[in-house]
Amino acid sequence: MLEKLVKTISPYHRCVVLTGAGISAESGVPTFRGKEGLWGKFKPEELATMSAFMANPEVVWEWYNWRRELMENVEPNPGHWAISEMEKWFDEFTLITQNVDGLHRLARTRHIIELHGNIYRNKCADCNQSFEIKDDIDPNNIPRCDKCEGKIRPDVVWFGEMLDSRIIDEAFYQSEHADVFFSVGTSAVVHPAASLPLVAKNHGAVVVEVNIEETPITYLADFHIPSKSGEFLPELIKELKKIDSEG
Ligand code: OAD
Repeated sequence: MLEKLVKTISPYHRCVVLTGAGISAESGVPTFRGKEGLWGKFKPEELATMSAFMANPEVVWEWYNWRRELMENVEPNPGHWAISEMEKWFDEFTLITQNVDGLHRLARTRHIIELHGNIYRNKCADCNQSFEIKDDIDPNNIPRCDKCEGKIRPDVVWFGEMLDSRIIDEAFYQSEHADVFFSVGTSAVVHPAASLPLVAKNHGAVVVEVNIEETPITYLADFHIPSKSGEFLPELIKELKKIDSEG
């Protein structure tokens, strides 16, 4: 499978990689779905919606402080680093991530589209103004926007919220123009992100899925790699670099 995939792709291809929580699982960040997933233990409607924030902002902040703390103590894994190597190998490369953990940035990938925001950023719940607040937010004393007095919330996309149109438009544009599209560690059930592999396929891209399980997009993938991303992607980049050295 690896040999066939390596023969199929070329450095002149436009490569797009879509990642989900599975790429960070080997760093110790919990995924959302599956037996150990966050949504098996917590109710998204109580923690990740605007109405939950309006009803119980302190509970929502406690949860995000816990997740921030968890993410601050983890490091990129070989899957994140391999993606950064892929960015150097392909002439044109875009990473689209649903993750809010910032691990791709720590692994020095440069062209990143963050579809669902970033857990380390904050914004005003009323006027959307961004806020750089380095310290933890005190759930019992939530800071207010200096423009409109709205409460400060994490700058992540919650259920029922629209994605920033410029960001999702860019993600669709890149997917439509991809020659090779990797879907890595995502259950491919949350739209619009889950539509991107389909769009890429419909525009002629070779679609490669790296996921320990099958997903709703497995049927359309030209290659389904049933491996951990932190194991398979370093193998792949090693093989791709051999092509360079062999000329
Ligand atoms: P999920 O938790 O839904 O899916 C994680 C996927 O990663 C599953 O398909 C696993 O099989 C796979 N997986 C786990 N470990 C892996 C590994 N080591 N290597 C490869 N694959 C592995 O996470 P997402 O698809 O990212 O949205 O979820 C999408 C969105 O749903 C999230 O961005 C979040 C959530 O609600 C928002 O917060 C808006």
